[in-house]
Amino acid sequence: MDVYEAVLSRRAVRGFTDEPVPAEALERVLAAASWAPSGSNIQPWRIYVLTGAPLACLKKVAIERVAAGFPWDEREFEMYPTSLKSPYVERRRAFGNERYASLGIARQDWDARQRAAIGNWDCFGAPAALFCYIDRDLGRPQWSDLGMYLQTVMLLLRAEGLHSCPQMAWSQVRETVAETVRPPDDLMLFCGMSIGYEDHAVNYIRTGRASLGETVTFIGG
Ligand SMILES: Cc1cc2nc3c(=O)[nH]c(=O)nc-3n(C[C@H](O)[C@H](O)[C@H](O)COP(=O)(O)O)c2cc1C
Repeated sequence: MDVYEAVLSRRAVRGFTDEPVPAEALERVLAAASWAPSGSNIQPWRIYVLTGAPLACLKKVAIERVAAGFPWDEREFEMYPTSLKSPYVERRRAFGNERYASLGIARQDWDARQRAAIGNWDCFGAPAALFCYIDRDLGRPQWSDLGMYLQTVMLLLRAEGLHSCPQMAWSQVRETVAETVRPPDDLMLFCGMSIGYEDHAVNYIRTGRASLGETVTFIGG
């Protein structure tokens, strides 16, 4: 698979089969992804990979807590600014509309939206997940290193015939994740990522993108 194909075929998959992910494939992907760039090569990502019984147990506990209405864990970072300005607010709204329309859920149907959101904590059925942590002392440039690393993982997963869904939703139940992962105190959870083989029976949306002119300015010849 060439790089363009990997980039264009990667998308947030929200329906996985229960076919196990070969441990060797995960190891190949994570070994290659460690070559992702980072400022001064400090490699700030700390990754925990969960499969089998530990992941099944984490999913069960997280779903039970969310379904029972447990409050979200105190936030260590805001997923979005409280007042999201244009054009981001419109893009976010468009994504929400597309996502819930694909599931046949009306935008005002809060209960149905919550039920759909619970899929996050089932990893959308995926049999493998990683949890990406960063040292609390590190700053914004190092968070961008995490993004590069995670995208590298997602593209390599495509080369293995696998799909993924990055999920900040896991940060809302970070203490539940910590009960399984037991990270050192100086680490904070950025996101989870579900990993597996796509379930083609599940409806999905192909998200759009802003035109090149909206996000890129070419200056010069
Ligand atoms: C850092 C990050 C966090 C995300 N968190 C979630 C999440 O919690 N749940 C979810 O279903 N999708 C999540 N997504 C997926 C985005 O919604 C998705 O990438 C975006 O809508 C673009 O769609 P595409 O990835 O299919 O191209 C996240 C993506 C990123 C990059």
